[in-house]
Formats: sequence, structure tokens, C-alpha cells
Amino acid sequence: MPSVLLVGATGMVGASLSRQLKEIYPAWPLTVYFRNPVADDWFRNVVHADRIEHGTFEEAPKVSALAAEHDIVINAGSSFDPTLSKAIIEGLKQRKGSKKGTLIHVSGGGNFIDHRTDGKFSTTSKVWNDANEDDIKQVNSSMLNGAADRLILDAGNEGSINTFIVCQALTYGTAEGPLPSLGIGYKILTGNAQSVGFVPYVGEGSAVLSVIHINDAINFILKIVDVAVTQEVTGSAESRYYIIYGERVSWKDLATALAKTLHKKGVFSSPEPRSVPLEQAGQGEIPKLLGSNMLVQGDRAEALGFKATAKPMVEHITEDLESYTF
Ligand SMILES: NC(=O)c1ccc[n+]([C@@H]2O[C@H](COP(=O)([O-])OP(=O)(O)OC[C@H]3O[C@@H](n4cnc5c(N)ncnc54)[C@H](OP(=O)(O)O)[C@@H]3O)[C@@H](O)[C@H]2O)c1
Repeated sequence: MPSVLLVGATGMVGASLSRQLKEIYPAWPLTVYFRNPVADDWFRNVVHADRIEHGTFEEAPKVSALAAEHDIVINAGSSFDPTLSKAIIEGLKQRKGSKKGTLIHVSGGGNFIDHRTDGKFSTTSKVWNDANEDDIKQVNSSMLNGAADRLILDAGNEGSINTFIVCQALTYGTAEGPLPSLGIGYKILTGNAQSVGFVPYVGEGSAVLSVIHINDAINFILKIVDVAVTQEVTGSAESRYYIIYGERVSWKDLATALAKTLHKKGVFSSPEPRSVPLEQAGQGEIPKLLGSNMLVQGDRAEALGFKATAKPMVEHITEDLESYTF
């Protein structure tokens, strides 16, 4: 029975994943790692976690020591923090026993944007396909989640640990747990809109974003847990990189639905989004995302049974944001 350490357990992905993992594998010892003790009761009484450990991602020695005690580490906490991934990898390498440790890492589709700046759909931009190992070999530290992904791919190829990366598109749906989280995707979209005072899209807004519902993502991560435990690990680390998405939505359609919802919730006086040039679409890295296309294809994940079943994101936004105040 493999022991599992789940990092980022209070997040949108982490909370659902920990509960379902323990439901499916009640006999597997599950340790959950998070920083807010308010969540303890939920993990004890609802998830039935075997062990609760408090700490931050920045406490590398603690993370490494915990990783060294477990057979499988699932990082559902941060895809853009290579120091956290390094701490996990180092810990897994120090495990005692003859079996290799396994890292299952949740990454994000932000790696695969086409860097257009005009908000237009492109028929010529690259579509990144998980079944094409040469595509995955190009993952590098200049990409949004690339620094951690590259570190993990290199560790997997070096061979002392087994690695699996599930790269999911921007994720919608509602979170469960003691402190339900909006999830990083919605935090980016709503936080950026609040920072500019309206819901922006760039230019004509025909550029597309790939998205996935949380339930579809969790089902697939659980599938990877099963594969990691039951199948012999062969091939390159790139052959264990899976891209999952449910649909592509245009930035204009997404902004229109989001603006309506945020208006109904009293956040903005206008129910309409606003078309702006890239430089007025927000701050930092976010406008880059809004102006570009995220074109991915998950042939490898589909071959393993991935199938999206959720309603489209624009039909979900109102319900997803219902219980949150902004
Ligand atoms: N949601 C998406 O759209 C999406 C799409 C693709 C990939 N991903 C990736 O999937 C993973 C999970 O995303 P999510 O949406 O579930 O994120 P989330 O809801 O924001 O949860 C993040 C988790 O990390 C914890 N955390 C953040 N900073 C921490 C720190 N310094 N020390 C300790 N804990 C810390 C949070 O703890 P607190 O509860 O204490 O804040 C929470 O448990 C991330 O790697 C993300 O990049 C997400």
C-alpha cells in the first residue's frame, strides 16, 4: 500500500483530490500538507487523512523530509515554484527502500500560449500535443510553469524517481473543502478585472483560451495515480506528460459571461466587458494571457481515457462564483 503526501491540500484541486483519493484508496496512508490549521477538522473528519502536516512551500527542508517518508508525492499546490519542486524531488531521492519514489505534478496550460498581442484567433499558431514528445521536449523555464516542469522532466529522465505531469487548462467549477478556493484560474481572471475596474478582453477577443472543469481534471489525476501504482514505468519523462482540456472558449465570450456575473454580484456597474489594447488589459503577466491563444491537444491523455463531460465554462461562471464575495 503506497503512502501518499499531498501538497497544497486546501486548494481547489487539492481539497477534492484528497477527499476522493482517500475514498477510493481508504487503506493507503495519506498525509496532507497545508498551512492553515483552520482546515484540520475537515481533513480529519471528512477526508479521514491519516496525518496532517502544517507548513509553507518555502520550508524546503520540511517538504524534503516529508517527501522522503512517502512513496508518492502529489504536488497540487504550485506549478510555478521550482524551489518547491526541487525540495520534493530531493526528498523522494532520499527515500529508503528499493522502490523508486513517484512525483505526480499538476502543471498548467499557461506554458502553451502563442504570445499574440492582438487578441485574434490564429489558424497558424502551434498546437501543443502531449502525444508528441518533441513538443514536450521544448518545455523550458521561459514558460509560465516551465521552470518546475523542466526540473521534473529532467529528474524523471535521470531515472532515480518516477515522474508524471498532468498539465491542465484553466480550471473552472466549484471547489470543496474547509476554505473553498476560487482556484488560480478564477483568481487571475477576477483579480485582474478588479485591478482595471472592468472585465477586459484584447482587441476583437477571438483568441481562445483552453479550459477544463475541475471534476474532469480530478478524474484524470486519479487515473494517473492508478497508472503510477499499477503500471511499470518505461520510456522518457516526456512520455508521461499529459495535457487535459475540455473546450476552447474565446476571450470575448468568456469576458462577456464574467462581466454579467460580476455585475449581478455588484462588483461592476456595467454588465458589459470592454475591448482594450493589450497594454490596458491589466498588470504584470496577465495581459499576455488575455491577448493570446492557448492551443493544446491531449491525444496522449485521451488514449488513457480522458473525456471531458462538464457543461461549457460560460454556462458555469454564475454558479461557480455564487458563494464568493469580491
Ligand atoms: N485553477 C486553475 O485554473 C489551474 C489550471 C492549471 C493548473 N493549475 C495548477 O494546479 C495547482 C492547484 O491550483 P488551484 O487552482 O487548486 O490553486 P489554489 O486553489 O489557489 O490552491 C493553492 C494551494 O496552495 C497553497 N499555497 C499557496 N501558497 C502557499 C505557500 N506559500 N505555502 C503553503 N501553501 C501554499 C494554498 O494554501 P492556502 O489555502 O493556505 O492559501 C492552497 O492549498 C497549481 O499548481 C496551479 O498552478 C491550476
